[in-house]
Amino acid sequence: MEKIIINTPGSRSEIHIGAGWESVGTLLPGSGVVIVTDDNIKRLYGDKFPDVPVLSVVPGEDSKKLTVIEQLADKLLEAGIDRNGFILAVGGGVVCDLAGFLASVYLRGVRCGYVSSSLLSQVDASTGGKNGVNLGGTKNIIGIIRQPEFVICDTAMLFTLSEEEYLSGLAEMIKTAIIGDAELFDLIENSFKGIKERDYDLLTDMVYRSVKFKAAVVTEDERETGLRRILNFGHTFGHAIEMQTQFKHGFAVASGMELATYFSLDRGLLDENSAVRIINLLKKFGLLRDYDISHTQIERLVTHDKKKAGSSIHFVFSDGIGNAVVEKISIPEIIDFYKRFKDKT
Ligand SMILES: NC(=O)c1ccc[n+]([C@@H]2O[C@H](COP(=O)([O-])OP(=O)(O)OC[C@H]3O[C@@H](n4cnc5c(N)ncnc54)[C@H](O)[C@@H]3O)[C@@H](O)[C@H]2O)c1
Repeated sequence: MEKIIINTPGSRSEIHIGAGWESVGTLLPGSGVVIVTDDNIKRLYGDKFPDVPVLSVVPGEDSKKLTVIEQLADKLLEAGIDRNGFILAVGGGVVCDLAGFLASVYLRGVRCGYVSSSLLSQVDASTGGKNGVNLGGTKNIIGIIRQPEFVICDTAMLFTLSEEEYLSGLAEMIKTAIIGDAELFDLIENSFKGIKERDYDLLTDMVYRSVKFKAAVVTEDERETGLRRILNFGHTFGHAIEMQTQFKHGFAVASGMELATYFSLDRGLLDENSAVRIINLLKKFGLLRDYDISHTQIERLVTHDKKKAGSSIHFVFSDGIGNAVVEKISIPEIIDFYKRFKDKT
């Protein structure tokens, strides 16, 4: 297993990449451990879980809410978990976000670690310490930043992931390549067959590269006051599209990245050849789906986004494959671009 360390003020998080999640027991304390998972993961992997109490939630985004946190906290109390307790998340982004938040607030904080099981959570959600739940239709509005002690990204777990979930995670990996790793972009471009067939060594290498980049960004700017904002490439429009459609997170982000790419081209930041490569890559993996959202709906949704600061937004542009820049721009400028883009397509 490869190991990447995230050192942030007051905490240290180890990310292990490669096979062998079943040996997670060696990283756990001898008592007070509870597993938080979802019903799919429990069905697929439950027989290999360490012998500790298991709390399982209904799979999917709908479980990321405060009432579920309350129910889980109740069960921790019932199980007698005190301040020495340890919460182990085994699952995708929903389970890690939920369990990380639970561990942050239960008894004002108990220890936690993740076995990250989906491609999206391995390359994005489980690294960086952001956790939280949704409130009504607004995503991730309640939560904190707190690093888990460890994250295990076992790429062998990705073999059981559905094609739709796998591709959703691939979109976030392509995002990493666009904003920070031109070599990873080349690798994805040249490895269509291996990616579709989920070649183990290839996946391990690509997950490693993605985590390494995100870990470096988080180490430098854990609280998202500057550099970390680049991780939101494609997310301003992506979140709006996600709220308005049934798209999975990665597909919404892919459409958001299409818009951010054309917007970067429109502002003269990105050259045409790079823009074509990005769009072609998203298309090649079938990540761009049709949606019908008017510019007035987009305005309402973008304004609603929690990353809005006053009447402007930190928008992430690409200024070449492997690099990103953040500019504070006004919402009318964003909407004007969206309107022009939609009129053309
Ligand atoms: N905290 C962050 O920094 C961050 C970053 C990006 C996304 N997120 C969050 O992550 C969530 C999306 O993550 P996700 O796509 O992993 O969703 P998810 O956890 O709902 O997993 C998707 C589906 O795949 C199943 N699954 C997971 N691993 C599997 C495996 N190995 N085999 C078979 N099935 C498996 C799950 O049961 C679920 O049905 C969103 O809530 C998003 O907001 C958080």
